[in-house]
This record gives sequence, structure tokens and C-alpha cells, in this order.
Amino acid sequence: MRFTILTLFPEMIEQGLSVSILGRAREKGFISFDVRNIRDYTTERHGHVDDAPYGGGAGMLMQADPILRCYRAVTEERGRAPRVVYVTPQGKQFTQADAKMFAEEEELLILCGHYEGVDERALQLLSAEPYSIGDYVLTGGELPAMVMVDAISRMAPGVLSNQESGEIESFEGNLLEYPQYTRPEVYEGLRVPSVLLSGDHKKVAQWRREQALLRTRERRPDLFSKVELTKADCKFLREQAAKEAEKNEDRPLYF
Ligand code: ADE
Repeated sequence: MRFTILTLFPEMIEQGLSVSILGRAREKGFISFDVRNIRDYTTERHGHVDDAPYGGGAGMLMQADPILRCYRAVTEERGRAPRVVYVTPQGKQFTQADAKMFAEEEELLILCGHYEGVDERALQLLSAEPYSIGDYVLTGGELPAMVMVDAISRMAPGVLSNQESGEIESFEGNLLEYPQYTRPEVYEGLRVPSVLLSGDHKKVAQWRREQALLRTRERRPDLFSKVELTKADCKFLREQAAKEAEKNEDRPLYF
């Protein structure tokens, strides 16, 4: 899969995507990057790519023309128009399901905004799909673009080894992943839960499912409400509720 990234800070992207698993996937040819500096496509004498917003207001906006020139150079080279994503806090929330969906594309073009944003006409002409990585505002689109590239790449064929891809991941079935432990068995007085040492695969799987349920209910009630509970899940949660009620009965009340 190829990622084409339009940015004013190509060094930032190049550095972030050349190490670890993505660096290895790149070397092996499972993914590739074409990082373009939008500034290389300006026809403005002083190399400006931004201007003040019409109607007034703080900050500067990225102008449409250098972005369109850069995009057209890419589409001419390719002979086809890739899907375009614009990373912005005003976008649709990017999720694991989106990562899987984009991983099916042969190419994805990501436009990184800077300053106060981008002239809306550029987004219109590119038919850009707006995506946000969360409800907070970053100084530019480079980190969000890298976050999306990372999440999409690990879903692309060949990028993760069988061992790395694992069987169960966070967000599968709207559940967060269960807690994990490795050697030693006891660390600073804390024991690994004994079921994990039992060698009983069925029991281990059940314990993990239960822990994932508890963790998701506590940390992400929004996801928990979407989990399809099995009969066994309901039984476990009822028992858990009874245990918690018992504990609360022993607790003194303070007013
Ligand atoms: N640019 C600035 N903040 C962003 C965010 N949260 N998501 C995507 N792009 C952004």
C-alpha cells in the first residue's frame, strides 16, 4: 500500500515513519511513502503558501493553489486519483474500523493542514474526507497523519508477522484487551493471576473475556454498551454485581 502525504514539514513525517515495524514493512516493500512538500508547488515569488482569512480573524490559512498543484502532479504521475483524507479536528472520528477499511486501498493520500487550516475550496476540489484523531487540537496535521498511517499500515497485508497480529485485539467486538503478564511470576510482591499459569486454555480464554468485559465497562462505558453479551457474559456480570453489592454492604456509610 502506498501513502502519499502532502505536508509543509516532510522531515517530520520521514523521521517518524522510518523506524520500528513501519520501517521494516517499508524495507520489505509492504508499504511505501511518497512525502511531498507543498511549498515545492507554489508559484509565489517568495515561496508563500499561506494568507490571511477573508472576513478577518486570527492566524493564516493555507492557500488552495499550491495544494492543488501538488495533488495534480501526483494524480498525473499515477494516472489515477487516489482517495484523499484531510486531517482536521473538525473531521469524523478515526476508528479501528476506519483503519481496516483504508487498509484495503492501494493508495491513500493524506493532506496535512497547518496554521489555522486550509482554504475550503482546496478540500472541495480534492473531494477530501475529513478525519480527526480525537477531541483535542494539535499544532498541525503531521502527527494525526502519522497516527492514521500507523493504524492503517498494521492492518495492511504482510506488515505484521503472524505473532504480532495476535488473535484478539483491543476494539474487536467493541472490547478493550484483557491485562497481560510476562516473567517473573512474582514482581515486587505482585503475583501473576494463577489461571494464566494453569495451562488450561479454556479457563484462560474465559478469564480473559471476563477481564476484557470488566475493563471495558469501567473505562469505556460507551463501547461497553455496544458489546454483544453472551449468556455466559451475563451470568458472570450478574455474579460480579452480587459480589460488589456484598462488599458494599460491609462498608460503613458516611454522611
Ligand atoms: N489537526 C490538529 N488537531 C487535529 C486532530 N485532533 N485530529 C486531526 N487533525 C488535527
